[in-house]
Amino acid sequence: MCGIVGYVGRRAPQGLLLSALRRLEYRGYDSAGIAVTDGEQVELTRAVGNLDALQAKLEASRNGAGAPDGVLWAGIGHTRWATHGRVNEANAHPHFDSAGRFHVVVNGIVENYIDLRERLRAEGAVLRSETDAEVIAHLIGAHYSGDLVAAARATLQEIVGDCAFVAMSTTDPGRLVGARRQCPLIVGLGDGEQFIASAIPAFLSHTRRVIVIESEEVALLEEQGVRITAGDGQAVEREPEQVMLDQEAIEKGGFETFMLKEIYEQPDAVAETLSGHLRADGGIELELEGDLEEAQLAACGRVIIVGCGTSYHAGLVGRYLLEEWARLPVELDIASEWRYRNPVLGAHDLVIGISQSGETADTLAALREARARGAMVVALANVAGSQMTRDAQGTLFTRAGVEIGVAATKTFTCQVVVMQLLALRLAELRGTLEPERIRELSDELRRLPHRITEMLGSPDDRRHSDLRRAVAAIAERHWQEQFFLYIGRNVGLPIALEGALKLKEISYIATDAYAAGEMKHGPIALLDQSTPVVCVATDSPVLGKLIANMQEVRARGARVIAICSQGNESVREHADELVALPAVDPLLQPLLAVVPLQLLAYEIAARRGYNVDQPRNLAKTVTVE
Ligand code: M6R
Repeated sequence: MCGIVGYVGRRAPQGLLLSALRRLEYRGYDSAGIAVTDGEQVELTRAVGNLDALQAKLEASRNGAGAPDGVLWAGIGHTRWATHGRVNEANAHPHFDSAGRFHVVVNGIVENYIDLRERLRAEGAVLRSETDAEVIAHLIGAHYSGDLVAAARATLQEIVGDCAFVAMSTTDPGRLVGARRQCPLIVGLGDGEQFIASAIPAFLSHTRRVIVIESEEVALLEEQGVRITAGDGQAVEREPEQVMLDQEAIEKGGFETFMLKEIYEQPDAVAETLSGHLRADGGIELELEGDLEEAQLAACGRVIIVGCGTSYHAGLVGRYLLEEWARLPVELDIASEWRYRNPVLGAHDLVIGISQSGETADTLAALREARARGAMVVALANVAGSQMTRDAQGTLFTRAGVEIGVAATKTFTCQVVVMQLLALRLAELRGTLEPERIRELSDELRRLPHRITEMLGSPDDRRHSDLRRAVAAIAERHWQEQFFLYIGRNVGLPIALEGALKLKEISYIATDAYAAGEMKHGPIALLDQSTPVVCVATDSPVLGKLIANMQEVRARGARVIAICSQGNESVREHADELVALPAVDPLLQPLLAVVPLQLLAYEIAARRGYNVDQPRNLAKTVTVE
């Protein structure tokens, strides 16, 4: 959560830091702040709300003049997702020590902050916020005896918890220090100026030469360069990497919102993900980075999948696939539950952590726990270089590109594709599916990007596809409802869960999602004439049973909104509203079935007037448990 940025150089720093923060706003948007110093004075501006509020304040200060070009500046900025302390200006970053000499921005959690606050207070410090982060400014001040790097290192060593911080000081003009434990921090190397941030997009418009700071390291940024030291104070030599990320990929590109753009990027994202794992002859060869081989995965005795939110739902699709095709026993759990369950596992278990960001605290901790207990650990992640990909023995990447909208869309479909590829490849290696069947399914997989395009229509003509029109009509009828129920069976169940999560997180409508067979064990009591019930009724061996559940819904006067495969007349007969999808193999259907549900959530939230890219109380990357 929280985005941090820093700049050292001679350009007017405030506008530059603000635009860097805009690229990280998906990480938090409760409040924001910027502090800059020329080594004598500090200009600190903080505001509650999103970055527009901060921009308005910056423009109002000094009659909009801001800090000038030419002076050697150091500056830091922060966009906050509140964990400790309310959302108000005093709790917004940057925080500073009692004398106002050291300013810091922090991402992550200082777990021992209560003890540290008490101790600092006893030593005479004036604490002005309710946050855990503020102690870092005071600790740096307390440890400082002329060496900012040593003070930052000593501070990091005193902190319990995973966090990253960037600090500046009036005693060290033109310098910044950054230090991290687990939470990410990346340096961008410029010409006579340097950048540091939680994620690369923050400074991509200024430089593509980056150095990733490792856990426990401290980086010192100066006008002419960057020096890195390890936890023991030894100098670290690390060559910069050249990033290939596309700037356009992190802009809205003519779409109203990032979420809509990302929904429309799904054909390309899925094609890109497939291309990494499909050979030219149509066979599958997993692009498994790291120290594990495909054969080791195939030889495992059991698969355990962990993840949070949408990533957990992708894991649930994976369970059906791995059981059905690869005939492997699969266990699945929410990462925050699994990590504290004292799970029984060993060397024959393959633990797969699914995470778009590769930074989610609970999934990270679950994978570390799995490694400590001797299991094989694979990360399924979208962000290259993220912590999870460093911790795991092997990584399977989704190649969805940067996802900015808080609601996961294209990364979910790509996670599902990787689960499909993994299950097929393990089936091949384990001999649990006929080669001919594997060939048919991989051919169908290869055609999926085209199928999604067929459904969505071209981005230029995006309002006019049959799917968009059908979904818009449903949204128009139901956007004012208070409650939606989602049901599904088999691989339709994770899609029902995901559809319900999408709707609740961006439209704030209460939703529930259930295995359809469970409906009459409780949730059916919720149904009345006004309840829309979204039924994921794509082809499957249990479709008949789902149709029976649809009849039960209608018998209570509630309305059935069915998602089905084209040409399925039996579903049509029992639905009040219907969205038909291209017919594909039942186990490949989740990839298509989720798309109308993403759009439905989008259309409803838009009608309710909400900011779909930045839903309240949420953040894109959840680096706290
Ligand atoms: O980065 P991760 O995939 O680990 O994130 C997990 C969840 O926080 C995430 O999927 C969340 O549920 C999304 N907002 C859903 O749209």
